[in-house]
Amino acid sequence: MKIVMLGAPGAGKGTQAKMIAERYGIPHVSTGDIFRANIKNDTELGRKAKGYMDKGELVPDELTVSMLLDRVAADDCKNGYVLDGFPRTIPQAEVLDKELDRLGESIDYAIDVNVPDENIVKRMGGRRACVTCGATYHIEHVPPKKEGICDNCGGELILRDDDKPETVQNRLNVYHTQTQPLIDFYTAKGVLKTVDGTQDMQKVFADITDILG
Ligand code: AP5
Ligand code: MG
Repeated sequence: MKIVMLGAPGAGKGTQAKMIAERYGIPHVSTGDIFRANIKNDTELGRKAKGYMDKGELVPDELTVSMLLDRVAADDCKNGYVLDGFPRTIPQAEVLDKELDRLGESIDYAIDVNVPDENIVKRMGGRRACVTCGATYHIEHVPPKKEGICDNCGGELILRDDDKPETVQNRLNVYHTQTQPLIDFYTAKGVLKTVDGTQDMQKVFADITDILG
């Protein structure tokens, strides 16, 4: 099963992708998480990506596409995967499609987690991420057991650099101009499914499992 998660920044792609990955036993592949791991480890890729990410801009395709294609070529992706944050532009979707085509494969579902912009800005200010393991919380909706401390690993919880309100607004603009056209792209392929992402996260997940079976 190959799944693409679509949706604005903060719509809940990562939250749902993680639940899908656990339920169906397929890897959760997040390009944002891969970049953040590279930044944390101070790799060349991380240093190149950071400037774009902090401004809420997209990292150029030259850096993103090969990184993603390498990741999905790994052994654990043989039975499928859930992509979170990729593709984000029509050219990225076309490259992925071409590569899958070459392998005689295709995307089975593109799930659009739909949340209006007004809800997004509120959500992002409440998100906290673990600096050590990347686990995500929300101060109201998914609070950690102990304030500021990760339940999984005891790491410190911080506001992501790109979750400041002015950067969130730029990420939303970038989403509407560069990523939203993918909704038509996957509709034309007959694989687009839309879920209401404003619901409680378990209800969103129930709607997704109804689609995936
Ligand atoms: P990325 O990490 O992908 O960020 P994003 O798309 O902006 O999305 P987020 O991770 O912010 O949100 P999400 O939808 O995963 O929401 P979450 O589940 O955390 O990318 C970051 C940057 O990397 C980009 O800006 C770009 O620079 C670069 N990049 C990455 N991929 C790229 C690519 N392919 N090409 C070029 N550049 C790329 O939920 C958000 C919050 O809400 C959480 O606190 C959560 O707990 C809470 N929440 C979730 N669901 C609910 C719910 N139903 N109700 C209430 N609260 C909820
Ligand atoms: Mg995410």
